[in-house]
Amino acid sequence: MNVLCINSSPRKNGNISSLCRQILKGAESKGHQTEMINLYDYNISPCIGCWSCAKNQKCHIQDDFEMLYSKIEQAERIIFGVPNYWCNLPGILVNFIDRHTGYAVWKPKEGRNFGKLPSIRSKIKVMWKCLHNFGPINPSFHKKQYILVIAGTSPFRYLLGEYKGILFMLRKYVQKLNGKIKKSIIYTDTLFRLRKNKESKLLKKAFSIGACLVK
Ligand SMILES: Cc1cc2nc3c(=O)[nH]c(=O)nc-3n(C[C@H](O)[C@H](O)[C@H](O)COP(=O)(O)O)c2cc1C
Repeated sequence: MNVLCINSSPRKNGNISSLCRQILKGAESKGHQTEMINLYDYNISPCIGCWSCAKNQKCHIQDDFEMLYSKIEQAERIIFGVPNYWCNLPGILVNFIDRHTGYAVWKPKEGRNFGKLPSIRSKIKVMWKCLHNFGPINPSFHKKQYILVIAGTSPFRYLLGEYKGILFMLRKYVQKLNGKIKKSIIYTDTLFRLRKNKESKLLKKAFSIGACLVK
């Protein structure tokens, strides 16, 4: 199986990178093919909201996004490594997700002549169809499975709900791409490193998640 990790932490030896590497090692131990993408190594411009993608199903900005998107298309399992930045995703990952719009907006043929549809009933029908079919046309996206790895500073912050925004956005992203979140790891207590045994437990858990990936 083809397992892809999208790491949105700039620290290649930080918590996210270590956990993601363990998942990939676990997957490799079972013969799966793996790849780690460090988003900070690529040029991903922000979306400029021009909506040309809604017409062309393609973004006109020339950078690394399309190449990265094609890797997502090919992967069967996708791991998202996400550090908590100000209770949200790091900016580079937000840019990356925004740029999916042109590839994930699905528009039925009737939608192109929406203004010319004869009745309110037919308009509502088309609108309903559009809303319920948001997501890539490419069938390889259906039921793609995702694993989330999130890290932040302390368990108290977790209890204060600082991770809600991240989880909400990633769940929406996966849902809109017709995928499924299979597992998630949330790693806290990173600043003081008081709980070394918790850290090694999580690394083991990450390895076993990778080793238990099945078709
Ligand atoms: C710009 C920035 C903002 C951060 N904001 C938060 C935050 O709001 N809540 C939190 O729990 N940790 C926050 N952190 C801490 C990181 O989430 C934490 O150190 C995490 O482990 C970083 O992952 P990494 O080691 O893979 O880089 C922030 C760190 C940075 C650099």
